[in-house]
Amino acid sequence: MPNVAINPDDVMIQLKHLRKIFGTQEVLRDVSLDIRRGETMVIIGGSGGGKSVILKHMIGLLQPTGGEVSIDNITISTSKFFDTRTIRKKMGMVFQMGALFDSMNTGENIAFALREHNPQLSEVQIQMIVKEKLELINLRPEFAQKMPSELSGGMRKRVALARAIALNPEVILYDEPTTGLDPITSDVINDLIIDMQRKLHVTSVVVTHDMASAYKIADRIAMLFNGYIIQVGTVDEIKNTTNPYVLQFITGQRELPTGPGIDAPNPSGRD
Ligand SMILES: Nc1ncnc2c1ncn2[C@@H]1O[C@H](COP(=O)(O)OP(=O)(O)OP(=O)(O)O)[C@@H](O)[C@H]1O
Ligand SMILES: [Mg+2]
Repeated sequence: MPNVAINPDDVMIQLKHLRKIFGTQEVLRDVSLDIRRGETMVIIGGSGGGKSVILKHMIGLLQPTGGEVSIDNITISTSKFFDTRTIRKKMGMVFQMGALFDSMNTGENIAFALREHNPQLSEVQIQMIVKEKLELINLRPEFAQKMPSELSGGMRKRVALARAIALNPEVILYDEPTTGLDPITSDVINDLIIDMQRKLHVTSVVVTHDMASAYKIADRIAMLFNGYIIQVGTVDEIKNTTNPYVLQFITGQRELPTGPGIDAPNPSGRD
């Protein structure tokens, strides 16, 4: 567990009654979640439940059907908010597929957002920043010349992380950073996520199915189910959950557990 002082009243990302409908499909029904400055919040939940959709609202790629998204006390989810560039600068995102531009080498991938947001930077300055970011993710400078097609899945995720931190973001969003990686490579990524929090003091939101990773990196874990956040708690609170849906998810059972001490299976008190 990361050891950064976190003030529970200092909220960096706030979701208030977030609702999202695509066509007739109501993916998010009523999602409220406060993410504190400097903490690592892990979001868990079944496939297709809307976890990536939540991250895309945080970075302003999607507009909510209802409710509000605020970053550092600025509501970004209203039509009156135009300053998406400033918000994007604050936030780095590691996309689910570790998406890199295949036609650019690693260094160019990392430099891409730098060039876009800071046209005043010289080529020498850009190369210095690229080198510094590669160092932060424990890759040698020569790595800048490699093409994405030459990289393993784990390396691609690391480069995607280097790209996400190019603009010194205050927030890093990670969409399934360890999915598809072997346990040892996954753990390298876990350590990098912890490192980013410690060295850069970022606020992190990590979507994952990987409970070993969640337990290692999280300050708190939130579980999305049926369009609601049904529990938010520390690692110990989640491990000792009495919510049958959370228990089912973290133990990987197909049937709902039953028995004494198990709460009635209504996640939200609604619906
Ligand atoms: N832009 C979009 N247009 C229409 N439907 C969408 C869009 N984005 C997501 N959806 C739908 O919203 C639902 C939730 O998708 P999302 O990708 O957030 O799931 P997820 O929890 O991230 O799943 P996984 O764990 O498999 O990545 C899916 O049914 C998906 O088809
Ligand atoms: Mg997803």
